[in-house]
Amino acid sequence: MDKSLHSMIVGTGVGIPNKILTNHDLEQIVDTTDEWIRTRTGIETRHIVEDGQATSDLCVEAAKNALDDAGLLVEQVDVIIVATISGDVGFPSAACFVQKKLGAVNAYAFDIAAACSGFIYGLDVADSIIAMQKAKTVLVIGGETLSRITDYTDRATCVLFGDGAGAAVLQPSDGNRGILATLLKSDGRLDHLLYMQGLGTKCPPSHQSVDAGAHFIRMAGKEVFKYAVTAMGEAAEQILKLANITVEEVDLLITHQANYRIIDATARRIEVPSEKVFINVNKYGNTSSASIPIALDEARKSGLLKEGQIAVFVAFGAGFTWGAAALRM
Ligand code: ACO
Repeated sequence: MDKSLHSMIVGTGVGIPNKILTNHDLEQIVDTTDEWIRTRTGIETRHIVEDGQATSDLCVEAAKNALDDAGLLVEQVDVIIVATISGDVGFPSAACFVQKKLGAVNAYAFDIAAACSGFIYGLDVADSIIAMQKAKTVLVIGGETLSRITDYTDRATCVLFGDGAGAAVLQPSDGNRGILATLLKSDGRLDHLLYMQGLGTKCPPSHQSVDAGAHFIRMAGKEVFKYAVTAMGEAAEQILKLANITVEEVDLLITHQANYRIIDATARRIEVPSEKVFINVNKYGNTSSASIPIALDEARKSGLLKEGQIAVFVAFGAGFTWGAAALRM
């Protein structure tokens, strides 16, 4: 395929809620310690929304920042893709709320539900839309308010999650820069290891479902950890082959920020040195689909990832879903 028909990232931005929940705050809520959380996960703080703040609000802030960064007007946006599992309402999509609040009158908008892998799924779809010349400017946003679906009496999950949004603007490649390869995988047989049952139609909300906490994230942490390490390691290896690059050519590895130990294991699998591994899980916790675009924006704006350099993204999440992308910035 003609290289110019691939897409490249021309701007990034974030929307992070101001309120910070520290490990010490959590010590007051559940039977946990700062030391346990830091040593098992690497997390120190996470940002969470205030009452009345919705996922689309964070996504709009991220999108505005990304469009400013790209020097584009909102009217130029053709497509808005929001990767989320914590949209504002059951339906319509978070993406339609984002379109309305942004005033992106020329865009069509839809959500992708691929949990923590959602941003990579979104990148792949956006890249395909641009490659097929169906659109020129696509906003891909990962946004979550996981604090709304977190059970703050369950110490095994409540220490992990945070809220936030990150956005990237994609346009046709200039020939040199752009997405080199993407890889998407799913295994729906493992749905029972990480899920939220209570807001779907199979088990509609009822007094019993609310009493049972069915509207919260449930997770078999050890199992998820095991699959995440294997799948992300394999995806990292495969994306290098698909993109036809060596590990030495990778300037920055940005994995889904779930847990320091998972990030470290993925980096070790492809033998990327630690100075080329981006980590901000300590500040934000696990923000699911938002974690990679938030990390990407921070890496770019702190000068860790410069124009022309190669970044590799790897993610894993509920479904299970996982995937990777390699791109030249
Ligand atoms: N504070 C103190 N003790 C705790 C806490 C806590 N917050 N949570 C669990 N424990 C206890 C357990 O009860 C257990 O005690 P026991 O031995 O007396 O039974 C002990 O700590 C060890 O628990 P484990 O679950 O075995 O701890 P583990 O080392 O596996 O770490 C963790 C748990 C951090 C959740 C890990 O399994 C993990 O990171 N899993 C991946 C989960 C994840 O990231 N999910 C997000 C979505 S998917 C993704 O993003 C990749």
